[in-house]
Formats: sequence, C-alpha cells, structure tokens
Amino acid sequence: MHNLCLLIRSIAATLAIWCLLVPCAEAVDPGSCCQSLAASLGSKVAFPDSPAYSSSLASYWSAQEQTTYPACVLSASSAQDVSTALKILVPRACKFAARGGGHGALAGLANIQDGVTIDLRGLDFIKPFAENQLVSVGSGLRIGAIYAALHPLNIAISGGRSYDVGVSGSTLGNGWGWLSNEAGFCCDNVVEYEVVLANGAIVTASQRNNANLWKALKGGGNNFGIVTNFVLRTVPMTRIWTADVVYTLTESQIPRLLGAAADFTSREEPDPKETLLFTFSYTPTVGNMYYVQCISFSMTVVNDPDALSELHRVYNTSIASVSGVYGIGWTLSFQPLTRLMTDASAARGGNVLGIGQPPEEGLHEVQLTAAFPDAADYDRVSRAADQLLADCTAAVKLLGADWPWVEMNHASHIQDPISTYGEENKAFLVDTAAEYDPDAVFQKLMPGGYKLKGGHASR
Ligand SMILES: Cc1cc2nc3c(=O)[nH]c(=O)nc-3n(C[C@H](O)[C@H](O)[C@H](O)COP(=O)(O)OP(=O)(O)OC[C@H]3O[C@@H](n4cnc5c(N)ncnc54)[C@H](O)[C@@H]3O)c2cc1C
Ligand SMILES: *[C@@H]1O[C@H](CO)[C@@H](O)[C@H](O)[C@H]1NC(C)=O
Repeated sequence: MHNLCLLIRSIAATLAIWCLLVPCAEAVDPGSCCQSLAASLGSKVAFPDSPAYSSSLASYWSAQEQTTYPACVLSASSAQDVSTALKILVPRACKFAARGGGHGALAGLANIQDGVTIDLRGLDFIKPFAENQLVSVGSGLRIGAIYAALHPLNIAISGGRSYDVGVSGSTLGNGWGWLSNEAGFCCDNVVEYEVVLANGAIVTASQRNNANLWKALKGGGNNFGIVTNFVLRTVPMTRIWTADVVYTLTESQIPRLLGAAADFTSREEPDPKETLLFTFSYTPTVGNMYYVQCISFSMTVVNDPDALSELHRVYNTSIASVSGVYGIGWTLSFQPLTRLMTDASAARGGNVLGIGQPPEEGLHEVQLTAAFPDAADYDRVSRAADQLLADCTAAVKLLGADWPWVEMNHASHIQDPISTYGEENKAFLVDTAAEYDPDAVFQKLMPGGYKLKGGHASR
C-alpha cells in the first residue's frame, strides 16, 4: 500500500514538473474532453454542424458570442448532468464555460472557443410555493418567462428590465430593474441557491446552510460554482406602469433635463415604487440590425448636476469618434442609485457589492451601450468606448463626484468590478472561493466572466 502511494506521488511529481514546462491547459485536447463527456452524457453533447450545436450558438444575444465556437456543447437538463460534466472535465483539466440566458455581450463570457460550453437552457422549471411568497426557478430561464408565469398570480420578482436577460447571469452580478427601490437587487432576494461545486458536489446555499457561499453568490459572479436553481422571494404586484418619453433635445433643454433627473434622485421623500432610467442616444437609423456587436461599460457618480452635465458634455464630444461607424447606436444611460436601494438590500441580509451608503443626494450608475452590426468595426468602437470611460472618469474625479463602484453586468472588457467591491468584500470572496473551490477551477478552467483577480479573461 505504502509503495503504491509513493508511486502515485512520484507520478504526480513528474506531472507537476511537466506542467511547469508545458502549460497543462494547452496540452489538453478539447476533442478528447468532448469524447469523454459524450461517453457519459450521450446525445446531450452536441458537436459542430449538428442542429443542437447550431441552435445553442444562435441563441446567444450578441454576435461576438454567436461567433465563439466551442468544441462541443453540453445541453444540461438537471443539476446531475452538470455534476457529471464537472466530474469528467475538471480532473482532465478541460476548459469550459457556463451559459445561462446567453445575454452577456462580451466574447467568451458564457461561451468558450475550442472548449466545452455547458448550456443550462434545459433547466427551465418555474414553481411558486409557500403561498406564492417564494418561487423556485431553473438557472437556464430568461427573466421574461418568469414574469409571464408569475403575472397571473399577481406576483413578480425584483429582476432585470429586459425580458431576454437570463436570471442566472443577471442575479449572480446583481439584477437591477423596476422593483429594485422597493425590493433591492434580484440577488438580495435569493433565499437559496442550488450549486454544483468544482468537485461535482451538488449543494444548497442559504442563510442556514453554506452561509458564506450564499452571501458570496450575491454579486460574486461565477467564481464559486455553477448555479442550477434559485429560490427567490416574490413581490406582490399587479402591474408595472412604465412610460418611454423620447425627446429630440435642443441645446438649451439639456441643463433642464439633467436638473430634473438630479432633483428626482435627491428628493427628500422618494417613493419606493417610482424609478427612472434616462438615456442620451445617438442612433442614425439604418433599419433592422440582426447581428448585434455590443460594447458597454459601467461607472458610478454622485448625483451632482454639474457632474451630470460634464458627463453629457464628454459623451457629446465622443460622438465624433464613432459617428462614421455604420449602424452605430451610442447610448449613455443613467440609473438613480439611492439609499432606498441599499437599505432594501441590507434589510434582506446584504450582499457583497460594496456600494457603500450613498450620499443623501444619491448616486447614478452610468452605462454606455454601443451596438453596431459589423464585426470589422469592433476594435474602433472598443477604443472609442475605452477613451470615453477614461474621459468620464477623469471629468467626475475633477469635480470630486467619483464613486468607486463598477456594476458587473455592464462592465467593459477592461474593467475589474470585483476589485471595486471594497477590500473586505473582496477578501471575503477570495476566502470563500478557497473554501469551496480549493483548486481554483473556476479561475483557471472557466476563464469567462469577471474573475476574482482582474476582470474578464478573454475576448
Ligand atoms: C440589452 C440589455 C439589457 C439589459 N438589461 C438589464 C437589466 O434591466 N437589469 C440587469 O440587471 N441586467 C441587464 N442586462 C445585463 C445582464 O444582467 C447581463 O448581460 C447578464 O450577464 C445576463 O445574464 P445571462 O444569464 O443572460 O448571461 P450569460 O451570457 O449566459 O452569462 C453571463 C455570465 O454569467 C455566468 N453564468 C451564467 N449562468 C450561470 C450559472 N447558472 N452559474 C454560474 N455562472 C453562470 C456566465 O458564465 C457568464 O460569465 C442587460 C444587458 C443587455 C445587453
Ligand atoms: C455637442 O456637440 C456638438 C457637435 O460637436 C456641438 O455643436 C454642441 O454644442 C455640443 N453640445 C453640448 C451641450 O455640449
């Protein structure tokens, strides 16, 4: 027995040296990863040119994700499938991606070139329980399907605005929508997660069980495991009234508009049932665009009218850098972020976002969305977005209106949202990952998404 141990150790040591000489990940043949997976999971594993593979790729929202080609796609339909997959992939050092709603924009966020993509769309059940105060939802659902199922019961969840956004990615980042002033982010309303850990164990995380994991998943992204189910608190709701008001602005109206937005956000007695999203958009019309290249960034600023008007000025100047791009939509949006929201989060047990207490006048989360059809323009638009982010950041710093928080779900390829959560939250996330993923599988083998050390790994 002892000799066998020594033998295994010496093989392990040889392998370790081999790994130092040749990066192990590159030595793994993705084809053999897919073959091993297919040997256990059969027809759930789809290869290029098959209908299941093509439908999975086509269902991503952004063109960058649609043109990232994995070696194979696993269509998981249960936590057990995900567990089986990780037990095969992880020991073989196969690289993989986890995909929820597929609405993330960056290439390689929820897909992986030449790796294994675990597509969770088959996890699509919706089950209200506990007298409709809770709902259990599969992690492959898009948020609109959940709203549609709950509406006849006069309940909703505090989730994203866009119906096509996945519940998984949005809620692992935060999940921000019409009800967030009243009920906090979607992540604040998760009472239990079902998670498949790197070693294939299927665990639940709640305030009682695996409480650290429960907390870490409230904003910590995909660094801890693959979530297969969320139990969410519901919100009583019959209807959400929204109005889209579109103005063609003249120069002189801009200060009034910005002033009104600042006043709305800093009201002394805000109504938790009211919210606002205001947007400046430069969009020459080119008809329908089916293949969307998308670039975004997110930053936070104090609700100071001077800062808002500086941001508008900088944005307005930046239009010249993209106005020649065919079909460009170049949009800067402002979402009020007030104490109503951070109080609602705290009342539900808190999260790891580290927004801190907003000043009395409130904050705005500021987002760029750039959408355009032609991949050849990607680098040019990306450079313009990076420049705009740098200019906006410098402008608000100069006014002392900067606020460090970067929202994960709209962060750009050069941002590192987790490092803006504050030292304490980040240290907690690193420790929790060490506890539940001691071999750092979700850092090394699953490169897509915002990682604990330094942003999204690939484009
Ligand atoms: C037009 C548009 C509108 C939007 N509107 C809103 C909005 O109103 N509110 C809001 O909060 N956000 C909004 N978003 C942002 C959205 O939250 C993010 O794009 C989010 O990542 C989408 O989640 P998904 O599951 O569809 O993404 P995916 O692309 O599938 O995944 C995104 C990331 O999450 C990881 N992930 C996904 N599922 C799992 C899982 N089950 N376990 C572990 N990791 C997983 C992936 O690995 C990936 O890194 C919007 C985005 C766009 C483009
Ligand atoms: C916006 O840019 C245009 C073109 O450069 C300029 O004429 C206009 O004055 C700018 N408006 C503001 C409010 O900065």
